[in-house]
Amino acid sequence: MKVIVVGSAGQLGRKTMAYFKTDDSFECLGFSHADLDICNELEVDSLLGLHSPDIFINCAAYTAVDAAEENREMAFNVNTKAARILAKLAFKHGAWFLHYSTDYVFNGQSEKPYKESDLTDPLCVYGLSKRDGEQAILEENERACIIRTSWLYAEEGNNFVSTMIRLGQSKKRIQVVDDQVSTPTFVGDLVDCSARLIMRGLADKKMPSGIVHFSNAGEASWFEFARTIMEKMNLDCEVERISTKEFGAAAARPSYSKLDCTLIENKYGIVARSWQEGLDDCLSKRK
Ligand SMILES: NC(=O)c1ccc[n+]([C@@H]2O[C@H](COP(=O)([O-])OP(=O)(O)OC[C@H]3O[C@@H](n4cnc5c(N)ncnc54)[C@H](OP(=O)(O)O)[C@@H]3O)[C@@H](O)[C@H]2O)c1
Repeated sequence: MKVIVVGSAGQLGRKTMAYFKTDDSFECLGFSHADLDICNELEVDSLLGLHSPDIFINCAAYTAVDAAEENREMAFNVNTKAARILAKLAFKHGAWFLHYSTDYVFNGQSEKPYKESDLTDPLCVYGLSKRDGEQAILEENERACIIRTSWLYAEEGNNFVSTMIRLGQSKKRIQVVDDQVSTPTFVGDLVDCSARLIMRGLADKKMPSGIVHFSNAGEASWFEFARTIMEKMNLDCEVERISTKEFGAAAARPSYSKLDCTLIENKYGIVARSWQEGLDDCLSKRK
């Protein structure tokens, strides 16, 4: 079974590559941004033509949420236009296409976790470009699968956990937003979920399609997440609550964007562990 991963140097891409390298039943080739620009249709077409993968996984995205407000064109090129190209070419070359999206496709006004069928209404350019990417993929490729997830972090690279640890080691006090709530998700658990979806699809001879939600279980604000990181790392740094308005980020974010993951549980038997267990696992893997 041949797998191609694009965006292989990002936090999800690295972990995805590491997973497939440990399983002999897969031959996995990874392409980082430096190897391949997913916006280049001709190059993606010849790559898929050359390798004829069974599975094509897109871990590439423009993920700078605040910077996207000024770099609108770039965000839409990568998250919408390129997503359409990849989905179309995966279909043309007969590869099953797996893509990732975000809880930022929702406006945060719901009082209960968001289901796959809930109306999207992104508040920022990043969210809009990802939502339009989802729609483009579904238009081009009826076999494609999109996993929406939330607040991703890994044991390496730049993410909220590594930032909190760096700040906790250098500052006595920090301020963190307390009025945005969702679910922190360990990349290792998302990769595990993706692998289980693939195995299940192969066993059933019918790969999953459409949109599914996956995050770790439970919910937290950024403040609660930060305070838990400080506690688990024994860092002597006081975390103070601050509002989104006081923090003043460039991009608007949903105040409540927890994903309802009952579909993936009921249909594929994938039950997520708590975000605290995911965090413990991540912290134990840090070098
Ligand atoms: N991070 C989160 O909190 C979060 C939450 C929900 C959903 N997601 C989604 O999860 C997926 C993985 O995110 P991540 O956290 O792994 O992101 P990431 O660490 O920022 O990785 C994204 C990768 O995409 C690459 N890339 C950007 N433009 C490209 C292009 N034109 N061609 C090829 N590669 C390109 C980047 O390379 P350069 O750095 O060299 O540009 C980077 O290596 C994305 O679809 C994202 O939208 C993320």
